[in-house]
Amino acid sequence: MPLTDGQSRPLLTEIQDLFRQQHRFSADIVDRSFNTFGDVWADKFESAVGVMFNDTAARSAAIKGYAAFAMTSLRLQAKFEKTRDYQAKTYAEAASEVYHNDVYMQSEYLPGLFLSHYLWPHHYRQIQFFESAFVDYLRVARIDRFLEVGVGTGLYSRIALQELPMAHGRGVDISPSSQAFALRQMEVFRVADRYAINLEDVVTDTPNASAEALICVEVLEHLEQPVEFLKALRRVLVPGGKAFITAALNAAHTDHIYLYRDAGEVEAQLVEAGFVTEQFFVGQAYAPPRPGLPVPLAAAFMVY
Ligand SMILES: C[S@@+](CC[C@H](N)C(=O)[O-])C[C@H]1O[C@@H](n2cnc3c(N)ncnc32)[C@H](O)[C@@H]1O
Repeated sequence: MPLTDGQSRPLLTEIQDLFRQQHRFSADIVDRSFNTFGDVWADKFESAVGVMFNDTAARSAAIKGYAAFAMTSLRLQAKFEKTRDYQAKTYAEAASEVYHNDVYMQSEYLPGLFLSHYLWPHHYRQIQFFESAFVDYLRVARIDRFLEVGVGTGLYSRIALQELPMAHGRGVDISPSSQAFALRQMEVFRVADRYAINLEDVVTDTPNASAEALICVEVLEHLEQPVEFLKALRRVLVPGGKAFITAALNAAHTDHIYLYRDAGEVEAQLVEAGFVTEQFFVGQAYAPPRPGLPVPLAAAFMVY
């Protein structure tokens, strides 16, 4: 099915051409996503790209950043397939190499992560689960305040704010680069008046029972002791409040420290931290090329 079938999507056509001409290892990634997710995906991606990267130079830089981000993943994943372990790294090392490295964050990590949520099937399916499980819960329960911990790009908070016009959100992150990128996203999507981001470490700085609803996407695998972090999330959430918590599994990256091999390990930690699982989603990046080969997974849990 051609990308522009019945629709005019000039930005996706431009991005598709950029991949074909400059990043050949991902030459057909836009077509593949369109053939998997169709018009709804294409309209959301066309709109998100146009708002976030509003001229050809910005789009070209973002795609270049994504390509470098994806190449790093591929390279580290190939090593992981051999060793079945992540490269040893401390949280302090990851923080200084990644979260506090503004050039790397702005040029590669944050645009890469942002675009991966539209271009990697398990990331996009996780957003679909977020919309049906968490955003719909807030809508039905008429909850209009939420907290996101480890906002990164700010994509999940922005989606919640766009879909819930009465909602207000707060984000916390330890990275000034994530704070700046996420705030810019809120501004260009015109939801910044309903959002604030504080530079905070949730384990040490965030007050008890200060969130009615909580989002925490792909932070657990970045930590040395995820259970302590999960206990902090449980403490921050009001009793009876619900949280959307995810982890990346078998997915090597520069700042992935804690190796989860299956979703049951994440769930066991959630239980240890005092959460109860209401529903969950597990998506894989691609079918295993060989039986037994670990593939990157996204595991997301609605918990209370
Ligand atoms: C992979 S990103 C998370 C993805 C993000 N939720 C998104 O949707 O783009 C990891 C983020 O967690 C933040 N982080 C790491 N440790 C943290 C902590 N202890 N408290 C708050 N944020 C933390 C990092 O600065 C980084 O922005």
